Amino acid sequence: MKTAILSSLLVLSAAASSVAIAHQQGEIIVRGGATTVAPDESTSTIIAGGEDLGVGLSIESNTQLGLNIAYFVTDNLNIELLAATPFKHDVDFGVTDPLGTGNKLGEVTHLPPTLTLNYYFNDASSVLQPYVGAGVNYTFIYDEEFTGANREAGLSDLSLDNSVGLSAQLGMDVMLDNNWHVNTSVRWIDIDTEASFNVGEARGAVNSIEIDPWVYTLAVGYTF
Ligand code: NI
Repeated sequence: MKTAILSSLLVLSAAASSVAIAHQQGEIIVRGGATTVAPDESTSTIIAGGEDLGVGLSIESNTQLGLNIAYFVTDNLNIELLAATPFKHDVDFGVTDPLGTGNKLGEVTHLPPTLTLNYYFNDASSVLQPYVGAGVNYTFIYDEEFTGANREAGLSDLSLDNSVGLSAQLGMDVMLDNNWHVNTSVRWIDIDTEASFNVGEARGAVNSIEIDPWVYTLAVGYTF
């Protein structure tokens, strides 16, 4: 993914017109593209019916349509909202098949809207417009469900808490003309949650799930 983004940028920056107009105060930019959420998770072990299974979780990557909108409050600073179609992640056991129900535990869906303040530091005439940003994320986690095999084994009512956390990013706009640019960014988001569920009549939990994903975006942007 990183290599693909880099080579796309090199091609596009070579093709970009020499007359670049950087962003200005009052502009609104809208971007659409591909956003990948790649969890860098670490979790505590699964507690089921008072018993520590000694097994954590792993959470798989997912790519969706990423959308963002940014408003330039000055020539160098914008406020950006990251949105996307819902991400659906497989949740697997941290070791192979500990319950004899297959390695996949279930699935969760989430939306991670993130509000970021970005600072652009290059000269206004530059084709390449890198920026750094910091912000805050709210992650809604919903549609948590176990696989059929785990439901048959007695697991039910999976629930993961929503998360509030900080985020940081590096990004770049490659200006194609006055209106169009290609954008890439990599951001880190602090997403921490915990899970609870039923094991037959008993309760189960995973008390600490640090999802803390790297989020990669490659998009096309338009300036209004
Ligand atoms: Ni964290």
